[in-house]
Amino acid sequence: MIEPARWGHRRAILDAFDRLHLARPAVRAYEYALAAKSSLLGDRTEAEDGLPLPPARMRAQVGPLHADARFFLESGRHNAELIRSVVPLDEVAALLDWGCGCGRVLRHWSTLDGTRVYGCDITPRMVEWCNDNLPFARVARNELAPPLPYGEATFGLVYAFSVMTHLSEELQRDWVAECRRVLKPGGYFVFSTLGQYFVSRDRLTPAERRSFEEGNLVVLYQRSSGTSLCSAYHPREYVSRELAEDFEVVSFRPAADDGRHDLHVLRKPGGQGGR
Ligand SMILES: C[S@@+](CC[C@H](N)C(=O)[O-])C[C@H]1O[C@@H](n2cnc3c(N)ncnc32)[C@H](O)[C@@H]1O
Repeated sequence: MIEPARWGHRRAILDAFDRLHLARPAVRAYEYALAAKSSLLGDRTEAEDGLPLPPARMRAQVGPLHADARFFLESGRHNAELIRSVVPLDEVAALLDWGCGCGRVLRHWSTLDGTRVYGCDITPRMVEWCNDNLPFARVARNELAPPLPYGEATFGLVYAFSVMTHLSEELQRDWVAECRRVLKPGGYFVFSTLGQYFVSRDRLTPAERRSFEEGNLVVLYQRSSGTSLCSAYHPREYVSRELAEDFEVVSFRPAADDGRHDLHVLRKPGGQGGR
């Protein structure tokens, strides 16, 4: 039985829009509204780090809270610090921010010494913005499905904040294999997922929640993979069982990033480290 009071009116409304194929335009309209609000409140164009800020509309596209310039900057810094705390960056000769968006985390590597910085994304406007405004990073465009435009064993670190969270199960499997391919032996793969924190906040129907509690991946709006409408919820054991099988599991940090995503730190077997 459906219990709208428990799993949320917003979800019920989005489901109704989705049935009419109107959910994506509705999400875009919401992002425009957030961007307009931010502009009305006096949007900034520069940050303390001396780098330009992406336009509010672009920031809203990578997360509703990021329309707010201060949150965009602080959350990106928080996530860069999180990466530093779980990976020995001095051992990493080259890193890749897979699904870098408009550089929320990427911009915080401008002073990184001895590590080449790469990013990639499927959204051409974001790739262009990063290349025009973050001169220390090389950012490329890739398609929704692999491959990446890099050779085997290129990186000591690949990380992805809020990217696996927007892909179908099949795409996730293909991308884990692709990220493994471009990692050096001993290299790190770090990615965030939506876990218990979000499941406890009434985003899922009771049946979906049960399925999650039984250790299954739950993906909503799969046909919109690659957009913020599609959202995937990963039980920790699902990641260990289905996604991490060709990796060593280094650590798991529940609700660790600024948006309360879980963080998975995996390592490709072999090698001494990421160099
Ligand atoms: C929620 S945003 C997060 C952006 C960035 N990682 C951050 O934390 O600010 C998700 C990003 O992943 C990108 N994306 C989605 N599917 C992708 C894929 N298969 N390969 C690369 N980027 C992808 C989207 O274009 C979008 O920029």
